[in-house]
Amino acid sequence: MPGQPDTPYLDALRAYAARKPGRFHVPGHKGGPGADPALRELFGDRVLELDIPALTYGIDVGEEPTPFQEAQRLAAEAWGARRTWWLVNGASQGNHVALLTLGHRGQHVVTQRNAHSSTIDALIMSGLRPAFVSPELDPELHIAHCMTPEALDRALGETPEAAGATVVSPTYFGAVADVAGLVEVAHAHGVPLIVDEAWGAHLAFHEDLPAPALSLGADLVISSTHKVVGSLTQSAMIHLGHGDLIEEGVVDRCVTLIESTSPNSLLLASLDAARRRAATRGRELLGETLAALEQTREAIREIPGLDVLDERLAGAPGVFDYDPVRLAIDVRGTRMSGYELARRLREEHDVLMELAGENVMVAVYGMGEDAAAASERLLAGLRGVIEAAGDDDQEGADVGFAPPPPWGELVMTPRDAFLGPQEVVAARDAVGRVAAESLAAYPPGIPNVLPGERLTAETLGYIEQTIAHGGSLRGASDRALRTLRVAVEG
Ligand SMILES: Cc1ncc(COP(=O)(O)O)c(C=O)c1O
Repeated sequence: MPGQPDTPYLDALRAYAARKPGRFHVPGHKGGPGADPALRELFGDRVLELDIPALTYGIDVGEEPTPFQEAQRLAAEAWGARRTWWLVNGASQGNHVALLTLGHRGQHVVTQRNAHSSTIDALIMSGLRPAFVSPELDPELHIAHCMTPEALDRALGETPEAAGATVVSPTYFGAVADVAGLVEVAHAHGVPLIVDEAWGAHLAFHEDLPAPALSLGADLVISSTHKVVGSLTQSAMIHLGHGDLIEEGVVDRCVTLIESTSPNSLLLASLDAARRRAATRGRELLGETLAALEQTREAIREIPGLDVLDERLAGAPGVFDYDPVRLAIDVRGTRMSGYELARRLREEHDVLMELAGENVMVAVYGMGEDAAAASERLLAGLRGVIEAAGDDDQEGADVGFAPPPPWGELVMTPRDAFLGPQEVVAARDAVGRVAAESLAAYPPGIPNVLPGERLTAETLGYIEQTIAHGGSLRGASDRALRTLRVAVEG
């Protein structure tokens, strides 16, 4: 595509630094002189010279289209969006924007129960009342997959006032939802589908990968560009699809509502550069990554006790397709949990995993890194840990796994529960009260309780049992569940 080899924003930044203008504006480090010497030495003045504020003439104000506008137009073109906004607070900001946008359409939303915490936070920000849908649970791997179109159809049928629906695809573990089916269902109910594709920014750039959500008709897509596509940490994008269920002007206002008035120019420039690389070389680079990962998977399968997740997962409930750029390692055949294996990898080999769970560990590969060389290091570490463990009596934590009990009735919105009067009570006194915080027993990490829900004895018992069996609790202010924050009802 013409224009894709260009980087208008990056170039404008470079030209600014080369000019060495009189900097009588923020930031106070003034491109180096005002910074601590250690920072100057570590970063180099080059980085500091490029750190400039918004509203700089010739970059994001002045003759239109400005380099800032033109660069985002190129991003929209590369990902196939009607319009794209760069974000400087990650895909988390994307989820906040998405739900604030939906808040303009109504007061209810259908959302996946195991949505990322930023979606739960977005419920608090937007005041939307959620109707939750359970993802499909994998009874063997003890992980959650995606929401099915059938489940979405049921939920939208039961929530006719919903302003829209949000789903996650791909998951942390690489499972991809039937996005085309979900779009069809959402549109049949007259509402937009928002896809949290934080883990799928690369999908648009290789035909052997699962189709990206925008190409399947999703209305708004959240993309964490820094995760795989190589921009700087915290930089991300939100893409508007080609339907007419979501207003461009509303998304625009919601982006600025929650964004700093000083978005970091280094983050923005990294998005411009990552887009150029993905659009012009993504296919070739991802092809190399895919080939290297195929070999890595084979090599891992040969290590005693280890297996990998791959396209064999497609067809399982809630798994329409699989993203082969994710390396998820199934450790059930070892006598270690994923937590233990990851700990030994870190301590004995300085090899750090992205995520470790009871049965599965996830290694992330970036588009364009030398995946084959990276895999050598990972494989050496895995072989080392497994050999050293030998006949150890090491046993994986025996975490019982029963599907969690149904979540409690939502009696106030997450926003009202979070912002309203609250108190801390002993867990045994919490039954019947309304939660002011989240509780998610791991595995499988799906929230058992969210702010605004009535606490039941069944759910609290389930969480206690999971903790007693070696599982853990996320989201709670007291991770041992001795106490709980609850709402004071008027
Ligand atoms: C599904 C999902 N959505 C959103 C996010 C938030 O992304 P970020 O860290 O870019 O804010 C994550 C982070 O891991 C995620 O897994």
